Amino acid sequence: MTALLEVRHATRRFAGLIAVNDVSLTLAQGEILGLIGPNGAGKTTLISLISGTLEPSDGELLFQGVSINRLPAFRRARLGIGRTFQIMRPFPGLSVLDNVAVGALFGRDGGQTRLAPAREQARACLEFVGLDKHIDQRADELGGAGRKRLELAKALAMQPKLLLCDEIMAGLNHVEIEEVIDLLRKVRDQGISILVIEHVIKAIKSLSDRLLVLHHGEKIADGTPEDVLSDPVVVQAYLGKKRP
Ligand SMILES: Nc1ncnc2c1ncn2[C@@H]1O[C@H](COP(=O)(O)OP(=O)(O)OP(=O)(O)O)[C@@H](O)[C@H]1O
Ligand SMILES: [Mg+2]
Repeated sequence: MTALLEVRHATRRFAGLIAVNDVSLTLAQGEILGLIGPNGAGKTTLISLISGTLEPSDGELLFQGVSINRLPAFRRARLGIGRTFQIMRPFPGLSVLDNVAVGALFGRDGGQTRLAPAREQARACLEFVGLDKHIDQRADELGGAGRKRLELAKALAMQPKLLLCDEIMAGLNHVEIEEVIDLLRKVRDQGISILVIEHVIKAIKSLSDRLLVLHHGEKIADGTPEDVLSDPVVVQAYLGKKRP
């Protein structure tokens, strides 16, 4: 079966620095793949290569078996690749509803063409993430946890086949983290595949079918959460020598 996403030997260099170094991965339809690694390991850069906000220096990316290397981000969004941003930049002057409607207007297959149905779609996504009480607020009035949910709603409004989540649990409390895990499971139950970056090990372990670890831009492990989290190389590089 063709993987939904295949990354072949992706490398991304910034002047003098290799942020992603010869990374290959596959993501199957309906799979939740967790991406972990220390700060600066290249996780966000890898997501940016997949979503098209950065170009690879080397390597090839295939989505549904077709090369997407030359497609700009908006064309990849039309194919069904949606992402959240670690550094959240909502349109501050727009309402929460219209921030998400923007996602609906630029989503899979081109998205909605008119504002009214885009807002309807946005409303459904905001209900799904639990922000329906805030739809008329300005986006910059939301707190940190609300902005994370807004990022998720915006990406979901694009009706992706593949959802790329960049630390949407950072800064959330335990209850909020559990809620986001539940949301992502529901997203997957709708048939959406997910690549999720997260530092909260307990969360990523319970959520992911498979874990991939980056360290200094290189893939150092790829396997079941149990195997990966007990791999001495991963413990040494990321988890610390003594695990609780
Ligand atoms: N636009 C850029 N220009 C130059 N260097 C960059 C750029 N973006 C990222 N880097 C560098 O590439 C490396 C990987 O960064 P990246 O943001 O992908 O790491 P990360 O794994 O997401 O880290 P974190 O857990 O802190 O979010 C870092 O050394 C970073 O400073
Ligand atoms: Mg990052």
